[in-house]
Amino acid sequence: MIVGAQWGDEGKGKIVDLLAQEADVVCRYQGGPNAGHTIIADGETWKIRQIPSGVLSGKVSVIGAGCVVDPQVFLDEIDHLESRGVSTEPVRLSGNAHLIMPWHVAIDRASERRLGKLQIGTTRRGIGPAYADKASRIGIRVQDVLDAKILREKIEVALAEKNVWLERVYEVEPFELEEVAGAYAEHASRLAPHIADTSLLVDESLRDGKHVIFEGAQGTLLDLDHGTYPFVTSSNPVASGGATGSGIGPNRLDEIVGVAKAYVTRVGEGPFPSEIEGERQAQVRELGGEYGTVTGRERRCGWLDLVALRYAVRVNGITSLALTKLDVLSAFDELPVCVGYLLPDGTETPHFPAHQSDFHHCRPVYESLPGWRAPLDDDLPGAARRYVEFVEEQLGVPVPLVGTGQERERILRAPVAR
Ligand code: IMP
Repeated sequence: MIVGAQWGDEGKGKIVDLLAQEADVVCRYQGGPNAGHTIIADGETWKIRQIPSGVLSGKVSVIGAGCVVDPQVFLDEIDHLESRGVSTEPVRLSGNAHLIMPWHVAIDRASERRLGKLQIGTTRRGIGPAYADKASRIGIRVQDVLDAKILREKIEVALAEKNVWLERVYEVEPFELEEVAGAYAEHASRLAPHIADTSLLVDESLRDGKHVIFEGAQGTLLDLDHGTYPFVTSSNPVASGGATGSGIGPNRLDEIVGVAKAYVTRVGEGPFPSEIEGERQAQVRELGGEYGTVTGRERRCGWLDLVALRYAVRVNGITSLALTKLDVLSAFDELPVCVGYLLPDGTETPHFPAHQSDFHHCRPVYESLPGWRAPLDDDLPGAARRYVEFVEEQLGVPVPLVGTGQERERILRAPVAR
């Protein structure tokens, strides 16, 4: 299980790509085209949104029941991968995953516009409205495309309500039944060969002794239940979501690898205690290329927050941590690391606040570690090694993987001797 330990964009794609070399199956279990995994391999850059990144290594690539799928994005991605010589034959799509319909995208956009200053800063891909319909039991699932009559009926029922909302509440254009039904009927024939019982597939793979990787999208602090609500996504990126979202028992997950950047980034709105003040934030953004894969938005940048990471270790049951982009910190003489939060009542805590007001108003307590001011190669400079050791000591989990550059090869295994 590979899970984001911060606010997403931790570099999970790179770690999945590395571990996928030794895996048979790679499975996504939540989220949809709001994710954006960037992988740089053999001088080529891949940006993947909907399909598990294991597809690049020819692995069976599963989109589980807990995902939401935009068929247009999915099929465009299939075409794009095929056009660059990647076979998409092993892509498997759960019939229980929910479809993102055009009105979900329209409602996501309109509702953010309407919220104005209070907006969540979503990726505007229809994620929240699709999951809301799923919870309301009026969603349309992938398997519905297999029966043209059922599909048309469901679209008709949905539009009867959604068009009223779109026109009267959001004051935007309604959708035409025939147009939507026609487009989705066309998608159906191309989706059909990929639709499978993915819970059974994953279970049988595990029973056969195969190696399955679960690939989380977004991150712990964007989790609907455990993240910084309401500035979260509408699914469960945390590790236990992997069992629900793929349809296996939680006892089948043996190793849980948290992925964290050596600093922190956040896209969208919401509190961010270790956000860097002054011009060093822009410096980190430039050095780290911190612009959204899906939206192109500037990411907010902060110093490493060990309070939030301690929380991620707890809520995911992280057994080891991959620390990515350590090279970005090579430019600094000293590196503040957030070890505690100072709460509004004057007390200091190492724990993530349970109450939102404490989190909104806390101040970071920093310990300053020396920088290394040198490029990173196979042998980490002493101060860089100390940085990694400090994270291990503070969190009580090993850090066996450290990212030192963009390319697939730029990753150190077990850089700190124990
Ligand atoms: P949504 O998932 O599009 O509804 O967006 C909800 C929140 O999650 C917003 O703050 C987004 O910026 C954030 N978010 C969604 N997907 C990602 C991601 O892959 N990386 C980072 N942030 C994300």
